[in-house]
Amino acid sequence: MKPILILNRFSNQASALRQHFEENFSIHKDIRSERFVWDYWYVKNQYQFMRTPAYYYFPKKIYQQFHSQLVQWGREVLGCHDVSPTWLSYYVDGMEQRMHSDVPHGPWAWVYSLTPSKREFKGGETFILKPQTLQYWQNFVEEENREQSSYMEIIQPDFNRLTVFDPRFPHGVTPVRGTSDPLQARLVIHGWFVEPRPYVVGGLTPAQVQKKLQPALVEMSGVLQQLHHFHGTVSLRLSVTAKGDVSRFQWLTDTLVSLSQNETEIKQLKKWIQVRFSNTCFPKTSSASQVTVPLLFR
Ligand SMILES: [Fe+2]
Repeated sequence: MKPILILNRFSNQASALRQHFEENFSIHKDIRSERFVWDYWYVKNQYQFMRTPAYYYFPKKIYQQFHSQLVQWGREVLGCHDVSPTWLSYYVDGMEQRMHSDVPHGPWAWVYSLTPSKREFKGGETFILKPQTLQYWQNFVEEENREQSSYMEIIQPDFNRLTVFDPRFPHGVTPVRGTSDPLQARLVIHGWFVEPRPYVVGGLTPAQVQKKLQPALVEMSGVLQQLHHFHGTVSLRLSVTAKGDVSRFQWLTDTLVSLSQNETEIKQLKKWIQVRFSNTCFPKTSSASQVTVPLLFR
């Protein structure tokens, strides 16, 4: 199970997006309307930061390229077809997100950083509790004292870094300290990946894929009735030849947990999925296909 994915140097639009933000906050004789769009999001003892809908903030052409790249990545790797409406947020001195979980916004949350490479502030990291912290006594070993990084992942807001994580895990943003200047702030675009369904590239059509996967999905619900309760998402990729055979099966992501803490059952289920989906016969087509399939367990 890997609840966090980190992609550095994600977008070739990073500098253009950053530049637009800087221009809006620079001193102008003519005050731009973009300077008045910020909402102070404050929930006592929980959230404190400035935010605005990212979609409306940036010039269409620049933003659209970033957005398309993000959506395309989500389709290919997660089997999620879209993202929720995106937010642009900045955090200056004292601003933070205290620990929380986001359920059921979508199977994956994402944070894309436009924070300056040279940071003048401390904090502003994304923190996410580690799976072993959430199963503390199962993983307890009597040894020397442990500190923060043993219990949580701490992810720096590096410029142009996309962090994708399982939002069921308790997470937040550590308080920013040391700057009151928006131009030096922690600056991120964020949201959730949504609309999980098979994503197809190549000769097969989505309808053909749906039809052929349907029997496997029905069988799987029968298998699940024999097992204990699972929660989470997996995505897998099938490479399908033009003849319709599956030539390769690949796990892409996996956030599956057994609510009865039965790890053997997770292995059993994954083995079943691998064998069953690898044996799917698709129709003959003019060219090979790649099919990304998300499976949600609730
Ligand atoms: Fe969150």
